[in-house]
Amino acid sequence: MTEAKLLLAKEGPIAVITFNNPKALNALTVDAFEGLETLLDELESDPDIRVLILTGAGDKAFAAGGDIAHLASLDADGARKFAQLAQRVIDRVENCPKPTIAAINGYCLGGGNELAMGCDIRIAADTAKFGQPEVKLGIIPGFAGTQRLARLVGKGLAKEMIFTGEMINAEEACRIGLVNRVVTKEQLMTEAKVLAGKMSDKSASAITLSKEAIDNGMEMDFARASRYEAELFALSFTTADCQEGIRAFLEKRPAKF
Ligand code: CAA
Repeated sequence: MTEAKLLLAKEGPIAVITFNNPKALNALTVDAFEGLETLLDELESDPDIRVLILTGAGDKAFAAGGDIAHLASLDADGARKFAQLAQRVIDRVENCPKPTIAAINGYCLGGGNELAMGCDIRIAADTAKFGQPEVKLGIIPGFAGTQRLARLVGKGLAKEMIFTGEMINAEEACRIGLVNRVVTKEQLMTEAKVLAGKMSDKSASAITLSKEAIDNGMEMDFARASRYEAELFALSFTTADCQEGIRAFLEKRPAKF
């Protein structure tokens, strides 16, 4: 991997991962996905890191999609392999036991939007633009965008975005639930870090279990998901964080997780 294309900064309990190829609007290459997978291995096992923020370098793009120069070299088998790599790594982001926040600082297109949708939370700069423009290239989203977009914003809006390839602005993305909130581009990283900070002092095990309950439960029917939640609720009672959290409340002091 070209190290400089993916940056990692650890700021206390927060890790900031930056896609750093602004000249190509942070287009996502094989190296970027492999590099991200390596970083996830490191950050998941680092007990000091509680929250991950993903963002793009420069002020134009989070990521303007899969690298079209690379796509140009692919046959069907190569395309399948690229999609499988990207899907595996985006699944890793989605299943990361620590919360992940996409701080979207500009174009968030194609594979870039698919990666952002793998994060738990998306915050957008007011200058950000979102889209799945693959149909303009004669291809379809291949990094699970057809699935995650439909689950996030509903089938109708997902089809409108994917069939037209048109971009929407940050305000519209917020209105349809693609992003949680919109802030000024100057405030974007501050807001992302403030939000990360509000998670980093809470129980890491409780956050992981909540994430599993939401993500896995959403794929089940309601009754089964509720039973699953009850099991994870029970599991949370076996943790040191539960002992500390409840004791701290009764002793009228802040919990130390
Ligand atoms: N891949 C590779 N290079 C890209 C890129 C991409 N996805 N997006 C932009 N770039 C490159 C451009 O080729 C250009 O490089 P050069 O300076 O060497 O010519 C540079 O980034 C700057 O881009 P523009 O000059 O085009 O910038 P602009 O401001 O005029 O336009 C844009 C910005 C509207 C985002 C335009 O760059 C664009 O349409 N990009 C492609 C977006 C796209 O189609 N993304 C989907 C890719 S397919 C995909 O993601 C596959 C998948 O789901 C599986």
